Amino acid sequence: MPDKYRTVFQTGADNFLANNASQFIGKSIEFVGQKKSGSKFPIDISISECKIEGQKIYTAILVDITERKHLQQQLLQSEKMAAVGQLVAGVTHEVNNPLAVVMGYSEMLLMEEDLNDDMRKYLQVIYDEAQKSKDVIQDLLSFARMHEPDKQLVNVNDIIKKTLTLKEYDFKKHDVEVKYTPAPDISTILADPNQIQQVLLNLLINAEYSMVSRNGKRGSRLLIDTKSNVRRSDGRDAGTSFVEIYVSDNGKGIDEEFVNKIFDPFFTTKPEGEGTGLGLSVSYGIIEDHKGEIRAFNNDEGGATFRISLPITQNIEVESASA
Ligand SMILES: Nc1ncnc2c1ncn2[C@@H]1O[C@H](COP(=O)(O)OP(=O)(O)OP(=O)(O)O)[C@@H](O)[C@H]1O
Ligand SMILES: [Mg+2]
Repeated sequence: MPDKYRTVFQTGADNFLANNASQFIGKSIEFVGQKKSGSKFPIDISISECKIEGQKIYTAILVDITERKHLQQQLLQSEKMAAVGQLVAGVTHEVNNPLAVVMGYSEMLLMEEDLNDDMRKYLQVIYDEAQKSKDVIQDLLSFARMHEPDKQLVNVNDIIKKTLTLKEYDFKKHDVEVKYTPAPDISTILADPNQIQQVLLNLLINAEYSMVSRNGKRGSRLLIDTKSNVRRSDGRDAGTSFVEIYVSDNGKGIDEEFVNKIFDPFFTTKPEGEGTGLGLSVSYGIIEDHKGEIRAFNNDEGGATFRISLPITQNIEVESASA
């Protein structure tokens, strides 16, 4: 039991025994448990009572409900996303058209030859700022999933390698050591390579940001692993195998109070102007479109790990085996 709950729990237990508190019997109570490593996890406690030779005996059953909680959370998240998605789709559509007009006319004016320097400068600002808004709109549109994914058979290891190349310069600049361990003979999956790259890129940028904030110029270390043919132990998706991608950093980790918020649209802890908080919510939508899962964990030794699971469908296995 975590230290801060220990006295509360002890008082509760004492009361329980002293008052014969039958209101707890047969009910389940949610509580927080603590692992040997110190990390916390949700538990469900249910207490039953019986009498043996005149003596009352209480039995408490404790169940680790991490997975149940996660499923509830996922359902809530999907509902939230659907609602926000609709709103966003409507608004972006309304904003996109006038924005295209602003960009079009400012671009046309910029092509005029007899502009004085000031005018040219101001017009360039208008154009650049409109371009920035357009980028946000682009993100919003992919968040609302208005782009049909272009799915093909892909090798996740190759996509990761390509994405790492894109970040190579930044990682070198910030002295981030990268260790990439691709699974040998990884199964191909049906996915949109550009979308998967978008998800990975955001994970890499987030990890880099968190590591640089914590470690400064030295000691940042990023681990990337893939696993092939992973079976799930939680009974869901029985019979499906997954390809898994792990992105693990040694940055600040995710504040305990934010763990359930980071996939929300517009949730960001970055200072104003540095992040829109759309990266992870867009990623969530993309992975959901691929019938996969994206989850975040804090590492016991500090930093955060993101895990992406993507299903390997049976058909594809047959197809590529016969190809
Ligand atoms: N690797 C990480 N370590 C610690 N916190 C993280 C990590 N990745 C994400 N977060 C938290 O999740 C928040 C949301 O991430 P998300 O990618 O959605 O948005 P953002 O990075 O803040 O902005 P954007 O991606 O739009 O530029 C971050 O602001 C940060 O608080
Ligand atoms: Mg981000």
